[in-house]
Amino acid sequence: VEVMNEIALLRESIASIKHRSETIGFVPTMGALHDGHLSLVDYSSSQCDKTVVSIFVNPTQFSPNEDLAKYPRTLQQDIEKLRHHSVDVVFVPDATEIYPPGFSTMVSPPTVARCLEGEHRSEHFQGVTTVVLKLFNLVQPDIAYFGQKDYQQTIVVLQMAVDLDVNVDVRMCPIIREPSGLAMSSRNRYLDGDQRQRADALYKTLALADNLITDGQRDGRVVMAEMNQSLIDLGVDSIDYAVVADPNSLTLMDTITLPAVLLIAAHVGTTRLIDNRIVS
Ligand code: PAF
Repeated sequence: VEVMNEIALLRESIASIKHRSETIGFVPTMGALHDGHLSLVDYSSSQCDKTVVSIFVNPTQFSPNEDLAKYPRTLQQDIEKLRHHSVDVVFVPDATEIYPPGFSTMVSPPTVARCLEGEHRSEHFQGVTTVVLKLFNLVQPDIAYFGQKDYQQTIVVLQMAVDLDVNVDVRMCPIIREPSGLAMSSRNRYLDGDQRQRADALYKTLALADNLITDGQRDGRVVMAEMNQSLIDLGVDSIDYAVVADPNSLTLMDTITLPAVLLIAAHVGTTRLIDNRIVS
């Protein structure tokens, strides 16, 4: 695996891959890699000739009150993990490589970015779409792999790619979970023992809501009220949202039609967790 920090070196590598007419799979990450990321790497290496992973804690997608400074940075362990998978290039730029002095152009994200995460994390998706578009331009992947865990992010990136004629096949891959059901996340390492147990509330609540809908409940307000109650009963400290939404537009469903997506964002201690489930 080649590890590189500079855009100029990345461009050389990409040019030589393209010269050999090999396909490129791309997994953008912010590091602190876990089995969820590694599953994306495995999808890429099984479907593409070459796999490029980026590790970049993107400052523009964090609001001033968020965890940018304390976001886990575990570069050596990350590279060690990637060595056990089929990865060809790891791109690890620093912030000035991506945002040099004078940088001032930002992507205006699509409408689907305004609700849910967009309401609670202003500027977040502007930062995500900007960095993802830059990375797409640099890596020029045939296929880019995103996790369903960040469901809205994947929908936002898909829409951006369509709207801006980005010639990349954006794929959403399944959530990887701990044995308890907790969705794997770099932020799980912030949880202590008690909080980790309470964090299972998200998965359990998604399962409960799925059961309600599968048993015939079609009133979205009833399901959303049950989700909120369940999260509180199971010990989360606060809830940003717990909703049933259309899987493409993410508009809330008063009357549930299938497929639907259940989405939750909640806080356990000072850690903000998200999870989701498609009901089809
Ligand atoms: O999902 C993430 O880790 C980030 O939002 C991404 C896509 C790497 C952009 O910084």
